[in-house]
Amino acid sequence: MDAQADADPAEVPADPLEVLHERRSSKWQTHPADVLPLTVAEMDFALAPPVARVLSRALERSDTGYATGAGLREALAGFAHRRWGWEIDPGSVTAVPDVGMGVVEALRALTSPGDSIVINTPVYPPFFGWIPEVGARVVESPLVVDGSGWHLDLAGLEEVFAQRPAVYLLCNPHNPVGRAHSPAELAEVVRLADRFGVTVVSDEIHGPLALAGSRFTPMLTVPGAAAVTISALSASKAFNLAGLKCAMVVTASPAMAAVVDRFAVYARSRTGHLGVLATLAALHEGEGWLDRLLITLSARREQLGSLLAERLGMIHWHPPEATYLAWLDCRRIGEGTVPYERFLDRGRVALEPGPHFGSAGSGYVRLNFATGADLLAEAIDRMARAL
Ligand SMILES: Cc1ncc(COP(=O)(O)O)c(C=O)c1O
Repeated sequence: MDAQADADPAEVPADPLEVLHERRSSKWQTHPADVLPLTVAEMDFALAPPVARVLSRALERSDTGYATGAGLREALAGFAHRRWGWEIDPGSVTAVPDVGMGVVEALRALTSPGDSIVINTPVYPPFFGWIPEVGARVVESPLVVDGSGWHLDLAGLEEVFAQRPAVYLLCNPHNPVGRAHSPAELAEVVRLADRFGVTVVSDEIHGPLALAGSRFTPMLTVPGAAAVTISALSASKAFNLAGLKCAMVVTASPAMAAVVDRFAVYARSRTGHLGVLATLAALHEGEGWLDRLLITLSARREQLGSLLAERLGMIHWHPPEATYLAWLDCRRIGEGTVPYERFLDRGRVALEPGPHFGSAGSGYVRLNFATGADLLAEAIDRMARAL
């Protein structure tokens, strides 16, 4: 089938399966070739042309040395202003190799061994590792779900903040449920953080991925947040650059800048050169492509909704407001069935197992829909047959 020929020109093209199989990255190497992987947050689309061009040019010139990081801060400030009306002082941006390292260094600088760090479960699995990595303890404040979807439990957060944790590690927008927290919710987070002396580390890697009908609110645009917040961002999720190692940490007050000054030297010096080049191209020249990506992902979200309703009615979900991740409630597929195993063993579709996101994820799977319409349809067909 020639998927490209039928593609909507407003959408970004997905690579065909035979090209995807040639990729050497984690998503396409972890499972045997007969398995369709809708797992780790990599996208199946061709790179944004400005990013592909700059990388090709670098390879042609054997320009693969060390990064200078020049221009990165200004590029992020320009992008944040145009996309979100967020005014960033370029001097308050620090390049780090990836968001994980930026977050871990912030947690290390803000805690002493044995301190508590609050997270909202279910949540991105490495959060459960990053906290013990700095000698701190995980405190869970579970998200709540109602008819309108998943939300922060602000009353629950107030209760755990009253126990005086050192840090609140916020996922904004939230992986895996796709919630783009509202300005009002984030304002309440700031009020609570200020009242109880908690620092907020806001992981905003999915910020550029607010889908049709939703808006991303950068934490540092919330009044009062500057005094209590460190944010970490990257172009890596929206432009599929995770392997190139470039992310940024942003502050907006002397107190929070002083925390970043305490980061280990390696965290501030080992950003990847190709990552910087690709990020500059993405932030300066990639917005037209990003708009088309968001149209594509919004269409894929609709397609997923229709396919689930038609073929897998026992699976419940709340369509994500942001990210290309769908958090699927499979608890009705049958007593004693482990959904991830059933879909993999019988359907040859790999998904992320819900329990990896915390105990609240039992009976759920996370599905990555950043792929072509044909592969998504094939995956849902296989999942339906697996039941
Ligand atoms: C919420 C969140 N934070 C961090 C990361 C990892 O980012 P990085 O590769 O920049 O460490 C991911 C990857 O999917 C993520 O979803």
